[in-house]
Amino acid sequence: MTEPSIFTRIVDFANRADPYPLFQQLREQPVRREEDGTFVVSTYREIEALLHDPRISSDGSNLLPEYAAKAPPTDTPGSPGASFIRMDPPDHDRIRRIVNRQFGPPHRPTRVADMYPDLEHIVTRLVDGFAGKHQGDIVDDLAYPFPVAVICELLGVPPEDEPRFSAWVEPIVDSIAQLTPDRLAKRDAALRELGMYLFGLAQQRRQNPGPDMLSGFVTDDGPEGRLEGPQLMATLVLLLIAGHETTVNLIANGTLTLLRHPQWLERLRQEPELSIRVVEEVLRYEPSVHFLPNRTCVADIGMAGMTITKGAPITLVLAAGNRDPEYVRDADVFDPERENNQHLAFGSGVHYCFGAPLARLEAQIALTQIAQRLANLRLVEDPPPYRPSPVLRGPIHLPVTFDEVKPAG
Ligand code: HEM
Repeated sequence: MTEPSIFTRIVDFANRADPYPLFQQLREQPVRREEDGTFVVSTYREIEALLHDPRISSDGSNLLPEYAAKAPPTDTPGSPGASFIRMDPPDHDRIRRIVNRQFGPPHRPTRVADMYPDLEHIVTRLVDGFAGKHQGDIVDDLAYPFPVAVICELLGVPPEDEPRFSAWVEPIVDSIAQLTPDRLAKRDAALRELGMYLFGLAQQRRQNPGPDMLSGFVTDDGPEGRLEGPQLMATLVLLLIAGHETTVNLIANGTLTLLRHPQWLERLRQEPELSIRVVEEVLRYEPSVHFLPNRTCVADIGMAGMTITKGAPITLVLAAGNRDPEYVRDADVFDPERENNQHLAFGSGVHYCFGAPLARLEAQIALTQIAQRLANLRLVEDPPPYRPSPVLRGPIHLPVTFDEVKPAG
């Protein structure tokens, strides 16, 4: 029997809690070819170069047929089609610009900043929920409900529908990790139901627009037109999914990292302005998205002594790049005060995370309140139990104990 490759061992759930020594081995050869033909890229400069290379494609139709057959289908009948995260320029850029009209500068320069009081309010309410107890679960009680409430508010999903949402989102996220026929069927059923729900909501907002993004999508006519039909549905599903588990993991990974580095938990308690640096370093040190598994290329690319062949699948291991000692000084040290903290946690290039300003703000507010209000916070289990996904990696639960809940400042 042949030895499993380093990448196979990284994907293995047994190594989920600490894949970092394996990433170190992986980086010894920046570009590797797996037995199934996938090219795995693990060093900072190579990942960054590929993310900016116009020969790289996010469109699954550029995979050679032998690989496309194994790739997750995105256009199941009745479900929303491919969203702009799976498109290449110029189509990608056009849709991203239309979507961005409702989210950021130049058309909505204060959208994220305006959400600050609401974000504070949601976190305060969730942390208040720990009062009267001495133990809780940071994931179930805070890291999970917070981003769900935020993304629902942003898009205009009524709060009473949030629980239905989680039930649809889970099978979709599960399918990103491992695609079995059973998971695929559940994912497609969830996508269909979510798509139908969002379609109904879009109709309502067309009649009765509010301040939310969905109302903007269905009423605003920019120079490049509106999103309609399947494109609108695919975009809404993308925003919901992309803004969901990733942020949950950032808050959970951040809390775990601070508990493992109590000097930084204490510094954050005393100096809340450090939250910006703390979040940036958590993004580098324990990123929520460990790999980007959905790339291919439209021409052969020579790199690090290998040829990445046209049409083959490419996996970019962002989490390995973030700890590349050739690029980052003391890469395995958690140091929020490091200078020039550039990382790959939000990707790079044309697909750079659309929601990064919001995700950063959410995590800054959540980690600050955790540090300031949960007195003498301690981990119950180290390592905590992890979610199955090697791609969207984070604890499924983070049980903690504390002495008391301090009032919000
Ligand atoms: C900690 C939280 C988050 C992390 C770590 C994260 C990470 C990423 C990464 C790595 C990409 C690049 C994907 C690729 O190149 O294929 C991405 C893209 C994207 N993210 Fe995020 N994300 C987060 C939060 C959010 C939020 C809150 C939203 C929505 C409000 C969002 C919306 C998107 C969208 C729409 C894209 C696709 C952009 C494009 O293709 O042009 N993300 N994200």
